[in-house]
Amino acid sequence: MVLVLDFGSQYTRLIARRLRELRAFSLILPGTAPLEEVLRHNPQALILSGGPNSVFDPHAPRPDPRVLRLGLPTLGICYGMQLLAQELGGKVERAGRAEYGKALLTRHTGPLFRGLEGEVQVWMSHQDAVTELPPGWRVSGETEENPVAAMEAPDGKTFAVQFHPEVAHTPKGMQMLENFLELAGVRRDWTPEHILVEWVRAVRERVGGERVLLALSGGVDSSTLALLLAKAGVDHLAVFVDHGLLRLGEREEVEGALRALGVNLRVVEAKGRFLKALKGVEDPEEKRKIIGRAFVEVFSGVAREEGPFRFLAQGTLYPDVIESAGGHGAAKIKSHHNVGGLPEDLGFELLEPFRLLFKDEVRELALLLGLPDPIRLRHPFPGPGLAVRILGEVTEERLSILRQADDLFTSLLREWGLYGQVAQALAVLTPLRSVGVAGDERKYGYVLALRAVTTEDFMTADWARLPLEFLDEVARRITRRVPEIGRVVYDITSKPPATIEWE
Ligand code: XMP
Repeated sequence: MVLVLDFGSQYTRLIARRLRELRAFSLILPGTAPLEEVLRHNPQALILSGGPNSVFDPHAPRPDPRVLRLGLPTLGICYGMQLLAQELGGKVERAGRAEYGKALLTRHTGPLFRGLEGEVQVWMSHQDAVTELPPGWRVSGETEENPVAAMEAPDGKTFAVQFHPEVAHTPKGMQMLENFLELAGVRRDWTPEHILVEWVRAVRERVGGERVLLALSGGVDSSTLALLLAKAGVDHLAVFVDHGLLRLGEREEVEGALRALGVNLRVVEAKGRFLKALKGVEDPEEKRKIIGRAFVEVFSGVAREEGPFRFLAQGTLYPDVIESAGGHGAAKIKSHHNVGGLPEDLGFELLEPFRLLFKDEVRELALLLGLPDPIRLRHPFPGPGLAVRILGEVTEERLSILRQADDLFTSLLREWGLYGQVAQALAVLTPLRSVGVAGDERKYGYVLALRAVTTEDFMTADWARLPLEFLDEVARRITRRVPEIGRVVYDITSKPPATIEWE
């Protein structure tokens, strides 16, 4: 496996994901992790990430020097390169001006760049620069601005690059990472098939003859988890709470698919209860709290009725784990979780088989486990469902309007082949009504907002440049088929400053 030592770069996760895409298992540790912690993972190679600090800052994070002396194949990226230079006896200086954006490697040599010909486009983002190499190292890449854009150690296995091979703006970056893995002799056996076999075995071993309870949201993570439990042949119950805030046909789709694949599923009809609790409530955080509470009550009821269960299975993913470890101090802007807050007396032990996996890997597992594509490739959908996409009070009438509009938007995205090109698309029903004409009459119809975003990690997002002809067709279809909607608008705000959801 490869350890990515994190010095705070926004791209650290991307590095780990890229390595996994290359079928090498990787984990992220804080850049300052002591030798003992590093050794515990028995890494075959190290990557030092970039970071926002300058090596001249006395408080800048630094690796444990003993880690660098292990002699493991190492790749330093950006700040990671400067750390290597400084720690191993080279020199770093503050460059005259920051180099930011696309640059061209006008010259490159050595095994890290094997297979690359001519000028190579790379992505730069740095202020300091290496001006003297550590003893024995040599320059292996330069740009017009930067005579030491890449360097390599005499061992032939340790390298450093000033640019970011992990980002899409370095189109041949994957080739460089692959070269590094090869030179480092890292095993590339991290395939979905391998993960499936290992995970099934691990779940079976951990659970033994005990019983497992799972809250099924119908999203890809919990659905795949249910399938994994079924595949492992453990005694499980998946509970799907229909809170009435779901999309058109969602419950039936999830129910049909998972039952057919051997999941032991119980669907709880709780629409009345949720809508009653939400009556008259307009504040978004209040809605979330009410829904969270009602969910916990319904779910705990089932747990008591059908229990006892030893384990509660959750689809926690690696990014959640990294985040809660505090590695990436992303402030919690909304209170996200549903299953938290279960009463203590239920005494569950948590079973989180996906806590080392990225979402793409869960999707790959889902494919092997036979989860149908509409569920497997589905965009994320918030736990509180359509309640946070209806601004103001949630009523049956509004739910029905939004459900139809959402379904038309999503179906058209699929028809136009655009669904997979955006990370998330949604329709928001506003409480605004605007004037329109229907025949010869004036009418007041709701204003519906459409939103589609592209993003790698949902922490930041850009609004999707959907074709105008497509938006035109969506607006026509929605206003024709859903007469209560009088106007359709498209949200062109990125995150930040806006969030992805409207509430
Ligand atoms: P925001 O709106 O914060 O959303 O930019 C980021 C991602 O989180 C989802 N989201 C939620 N998921 N419960 C959830 O389970 C929630 O209350 C919630 N609010 C937002 C949102 O859909 C997006 O994918």
